[in-house]
Amino acid sequence: MNVGIDLIHFATADYYLGLDTFAAEKNIDVDKFYIGIGQEKMSIAPPDEDVVTLSAKAAAPILAQIDSDEITAVLFATESGVDQSKSAGVFMHGLLNLANRCRVIEFKHACYSGAAALQMATTMVRANPKEKILVIAADIAKYDVDTSGEATQGSGAVAMLITENPRIINIEPGSGYFTEDVMDFWRPNHRTTALVDGKYSTKVYLNSLKQTWDHFTEVTEKSFADIDYFCYHIPFTKMAEKAHKTLIRRAKATVNDVDFDAQTLPGQLYNRIIGNSYSASLFIGFISLLDNVDADISNKRVSFFSYGSGCVAEFFTGVMQPGYQSVLMTNNHRTQIMNRAPLSYTEYLAFYHQPDSTDENITFEHNNRGAYRLAGIQDYKRYYEKTASET
Ligand code: CAA
Repeated sequence: MNVGIDLIHFATADYYLGLDTFAAEKNIDVDKFYIGIGQEKMSIAPPDEDVVTLSAKAAAPILAQIDSDEITAVLFATESGVDQSKSAGVFMHGLLNLANRCRVIEFKHACYSGAAALQMATTMVRANPKEKILVIAADIAKYDVDTSGEATQGSGAVAMLITENPRIINIEPGSGYFTEDVMDFWRPNHRTTALVDGKYSTKVYLNSLKQTWDHFTEVTEKSFADIDYFCYHIPFTKMAEKAHKTLIRRAKATVNDVDFDAQTLPGQLYNRIIGNSYSASLFIGFISLLDNVDADISNKRVSFFSYGSGCVAEFFTGVMQPGYQSVLMTNNHRTQIMNRAPLSYTEYLAFYHQPDSTDENITFEHNNRGAYRLAGIQDYKRYYEKTASET
């Protein structure tokens, strides 16, 4: 039975900070960012945007194309959840008026959780083909000001409808996975920003890639030459380049099997101008491939490498379905990216130092221009609203 992604759509924040502006402020050569880490812009969420509003914005165009009462489960993956107890997905479920006969669960393991939710959803559909599962991967990547991670922030959410006979990609059974208890990136419960041992994290990422590849080839007996396009978790696009070089060496790929740019570049274009979005980054990379590759990639095999610091990683593949182009939402993606407003460094800091979410009562200024926004917090309860533009 074919099971996989039937529809996919992403959302990002309405504002960005250019790394040229960032470089000028910090008195750093901009090529450190443009060339050194391969990033140009970071999508910055205003205080009235969070993973709930981003995910609603990502999922709404999918729900508009189906009978949303048929959604049997929402698997919501995030590192930047909004409540220690209540799933962010339940807030989104309310905003989008999903049916009560639906299960909603939050998945967590840093940037890996999106892949975990996708794998769980495909397993559920294989067990019961009547399931139609909405997988969400949504994050706002936030590091302390003046740390090495500050230039690798960003925000985004991806919504994926997982069904049998999917129209976009059939996720193949068989994957390589790897877990190791390390401290390369972590966020204690009291913090809103992540802590990271940056250089170490890149080493653990690459080692995890090697380990998952070895496991993947053992389990599936597939080789490098069997894969046409390679999607990696992208904290910054230079990391995907380092990953592909590492994989080529590990797989002992021959010159004929390698077309470096064609295999990786289309899947990085959006990430370069959105920034890191943790659990969503891998899937924004996949959407970037779909929207930007020149060829018809029907029947081609795409690989996915998911890496979540801490660390858990997985390598798996899927096969593109004929006619997939007819259900892509390319214009929505491009319009959102183009319509973002630039921020000065001072404006970025004003968003960054948003009202303390531990405050009992907050009313947020209206900066989020999307259809869903966080209106306020009263008695520690979050209140969301649909804006007039949607009603
Ligand atoms: N022109 C061109 N290149 C330049 C340059 C210039 N003027 N100045 C510097 N560079 C190059 C450097 O040579 C270096 O290249 P290599 O990596 O190939 O050696 C690159 O730019 C970066 O320079 P630095 O190493 O000096 O940069 P840094 O100390 O500021 O930190 C980082 C880089 C550690 C990745 C930092 O961005 C960081 O901490 N990021 C957050 C953690 C992260 O994203 N880790 C990735 C793996 S973990 C993961 O994937 C999970 C996740 O999402 C967090």
